[in-house]
Amino acid sequence: MRPRKSLLLHWKSGPRLSEHTSDDESGEGQRPGLPRSVKLLGIEKPLVLAPMASVSGGALAAAVSAAGGLGLIGAGYGDPDWMREQFRLAGGARVGVGFITWSLARRPELLELALANKPAAVMLSFGDPHPFAEKIRRAGAKLILQVQDIETTRQAVEVRPDVLVAQGTEAGGHGGDRSLFTLLQAVQTLNTAVPLLAAGGIVDRRGFDAARALGADGVLVGTRLLASEESLAAPQAKKRIVAANGDATLRTTVFDVVRGFDWPAKFTARTLRNRFSDAWHGRESDLKEHLHQEREKYAAATERKDFDTAVIFAGEAVDLIDSVLPARDIVRRICG
Ligand SMILES: Cc1cc2nc3c(=O)[nH]c(=O)nc-3n(C[C@H](O)[C@H](O)[C@H](O)COP(=O)(O)O)c2cc1C
Repeated sequence: MRPRKSLLLHWKSGPRLSEHTSDDESGEGQRPGLPRSVKLLGIEKPLVLAPMASVSGGALAAAVSAAGGLGLIGAGYGDPDWMREQFRLAGGARVGVGFITWSLARRPELLELALANKPAAVMLSFGDPHPFAEKIRRAGAKLILQVQDIETTRQAVEVRPDVLVAQGTEAGGHGGDRSLFTLLQAVQTLNTAVPLLAAGGIVDRRGFDAARALGADGVLVGTRLLASEESLAAPQAKKRIVAANGDATLRTTVFDVVRGFDWPAKFTARTLRNRFSDAWHGRESDLKEHLHQEREKYAAATERKDFDTAVIFAGEAVDLIDSVLPARDIVRRICG
């Protein structure tokens, strides 16, 4: 019998936060002993909720902020009504918002709508941040940029972000090929001045401590918080994540092909494998030939929450997730 995943977990306290600190030269709002991300983002715990499209809604973002971190609403490709509703559901909590940059470039008016809600931070990933950086800064929101390799790091640094996120390939959802272990150190070495968060595979204190030991000022957490009570993911999707192990994920483009999203080639998505990816991964050109009929079937499966066909974005972290918990308990398990 397969051991319950919880038996594999050891809650050990690692290095104390104060062992990895940096000075706040401004002297303002100084909280000695805390990482730079905490001071800069005005939070108590160095943890940020990943802006997972359609999953990180207002309630989850507010719950993470109430637990001492910073919740980011996942605006994704950008649906104005959805975004308005999620800011409303955040109930005035101090939260931010995240966009897919190449998609925002096609609908830049969505940024105005987000900024009208006075977000504490705006996170951009996957594309050129230059057209948006100044507007975000002028609105008084912190600019968080997620990077996947040296090229995207160099591009990000040009616009002087407040925080960088190094996203390893373990991460759920879209991303690149570089593993977090080396990427984090490389980004840290390139940008000692910019507070840095680690993203990809962090679910508990061990991942948090490892990220801190490698130079991160905090963490950005997606998949673990997808499997929270407050997330907007379907209960069936959460159940599959609890049941799955990390061998069951893959990076693929088949779900983007069938959904009609033309992602830049360098970004693939980490998802749970399912019958659809088993059928089409590696056969993308065949899928494109059968697109019309496959798209109809896919849309119907999504509607009835049939996750043998519909996508569940999730990272290798699923290895270490064995229950759906309230967001505050997840935050506590990761960084006390
Ligand atoms: C369901 C899901 C949806 C995601 N959607 C987005 C998104 O819309 N924009 C974005 O910048 N990142 C998105 N991500 C990636 C996260 O920003 C982050 O890099 C990732 O969740 C971190 O790794 P982890 O999932 O192992 O915690 C998504 C991740 C997941 C799991």
